[in-house]
Amino acid sequence: MSNLLSGKKGIISGALNSESLAWKVAERCVEEGAQIVLTNAPVAMRMGEINGLAEKCNAPVIGADATSMEDLENLFSKSMEHFGGKFDFVFHSIGMSVNVRKGKPYTDLNHEWMQKTFDVSAISFHKMMQTIWKLDAINDWGSILALSYIAAQRVFPDYSEMAESKALLESFARSFGYHFGTTKHVRVNTLSQSPTMTTAGQGVKGFHDFFSYADKMSPLGNAPAENCANYCVMLFSDYTRYVTMQNLYHDGGFSTMGMNPALIQ
Ligand SMILES: NC(=O)c1ccc[n+]([C@@H]2O[C@H](COP(=O)([O-])OP(=O)(O)OC[C@H]3O[C@@H](n4cnc5c(N)ncnc54)[C@H](O)[C@@H]3O)[C@@H](O)[C@H]2O)c1
Repeated sequence: MSNLLSGKKGIISGALNSESLAWKVAERCVEEGAQIVLTNAPVAMRMGEINGLAEKCNAPVIGADATSMEDLENLFSKSMEHFGGKFDFVFHSIGMSVNVRKGKPYTDLNHEWMQKTFDVSAISFHKMMQTIWKLDAINDWGSILALSYIAAQRVFPDYSEMAESKALLESFARSFGYHFGTTKHVRVNTLSQSPTMTTAGQGVKGFHDFFSYADKMSPLGNAPAENCANYCVMLFSDYTRYVTMQNLYHDGGFSTMGMNPALIQ
């Protein structure tokens, strides 16, 4: 521990259970001296596990469906009331595909469900940023970060419409990053994480085989959730003030590999 986030205040979405990437991020941010507010969809909060994290992190939980502008306005206004002013970082760790959940093949997707998938997994990021922008809720030199996956750039057939969701998410980071950078000195990035054994991750068909494929392909192996949390801490800290509008791979080298002999032995 080094108090990298001493005095910083942040909002962390997406901690469902102790496997969640956001769970680890919340724990690490608090260990590094941050004060945080936790948020998740009301349905996830009813499952109750987030309360244990809230107690451990001494953080309030403010429910918000990330697709609802009303909920988001309430989340960010209440957070400012709690902190007694603006905050310094925001973490978007939200993803869900209706078509993947229902096992629809990519060549026969339900497009209404697809809209819902995009709304939850990508447009929610724009909605969050627009709400923060309108409320003028983030301090100068703040940091906004969302989690992505390399299916935004390469084809992973079982990832289905989540690939397009992530492409959209990354594009929102670049486009809003321009506005936040120019006007408020705030940076916006996406972190592209290795496959990780979480509830959302394991919802993808064939995930276990895919996890071990990526692990063998990556010279350093798959990046564990704890290390993802460390990278997020760095991206919220003052050591990355001029990093913005980037998609940053945290994947043990996977994204640069063509072939790894370990896979064909
Ligand atoms: N696990 C992986 O392999 C992996 C790899 C790269 C990126 N990611 C991304 O990491 C992020 C976090 O996923 P995770 O793997 O920790 O799984 P997770 O299931 O623990 O987290 C997903 C979260 O999204 C929340 N959510 C869903 N709908 C919501 C809504 N309408 N409003 C607010 N919150 C909502 C869920 O309640 C849950 O907390 C996602 O964006 C995911 O795509 C995951």
